[in-house]
Amino acid sequence: MERVILFATVVLSFLVIVLGAKIKLPTIVDWKPCISEDGKMNETQVGKIKQIRFYGNCTERCQFKINTSIEFEFDFDPGEDTDNLAPEMSGLLGPIEIPFPGMRASVCDSVFTAEGESCPLKKGKFYTYRRAVPIKDEYPPVFVDIKWKLITDKKHTSICFIVKSQIIE
Ligand SMILES: *[C@@H]1O[C@H](CO)[C@@H](O)[C@H](O)[C@H]1NC(C)=O
Ligand SMILES: *[C@@H]1O[C@H](CO)[C@@H](O)[C@H](O)[C@H]1NC(C)=O
Ligand SMILES: *[C@@H]1O[C@H](CO)[C@@H](O)[C@H](O)[C@H]1NC(C)=O
Repeated sequence: MERVILFATVVLSFLVIVLGAKIKLPTIVDWKPCISEDGKMNETQVGKIKQIRFYGNCTERCQFKINTSIEFEFDFDPGEDTDNLAPEMSGLLGPIEIPFPGMRASVCDSVFTAEGESCPLKKGKFYTYRRAVPIKDEYPPVFVDIKWKLITDKKHTSICFIVKSQIIE
């Protein structure tokens, strides 16, 4: 019996070490609300953000490598009942806001509760939104803050956050 347990422990440790090196683990990301001190940007959100995670290196800025897809996920409460949410992602280069093309019009295939529920979304429930966005080689390798926003059916800002990022080659 003891040998079986020892064997099982050795096999499990091996699997954890070997697979651990392969499985990508997300990093918890620091974020800011979409409100600037000078009041020029004031996207007061109706929802709540619990946590934002990024599959990649966010040591100083989240690194978006050209010709790869970046994968984000975040847990949030939409703040009001809504049939769907419209996602918008843009890059902030100083005062200039440049939309990232290719965002889908709907989040329903990417948003789930822990129990697997999706649209319509309910106020007071936490959902996880997970998306991969391709970083094309037309983007310049610059420091850029990413603004990510979800808009409700009533055109209210459900959630909006900014993450310090960097496009790298
Ligand atoms: C943003 O808008 C809200 C509601 O309209 C207001 O109460 C708040 O003072 C504004 N914040 C800034 C920084 O302008
Ligand atoms: C993550 O990025 C930092 C700089 O922001 C760099 O020093 C570090 O080597 C990177 N780590 C990996 C695993 O690429
Ligand atoms: C990205 O992919 C394109 C097409 O495959 C290639 O021409 C380009 O050099 C790549 N850019 C980088 C930075 O790897």
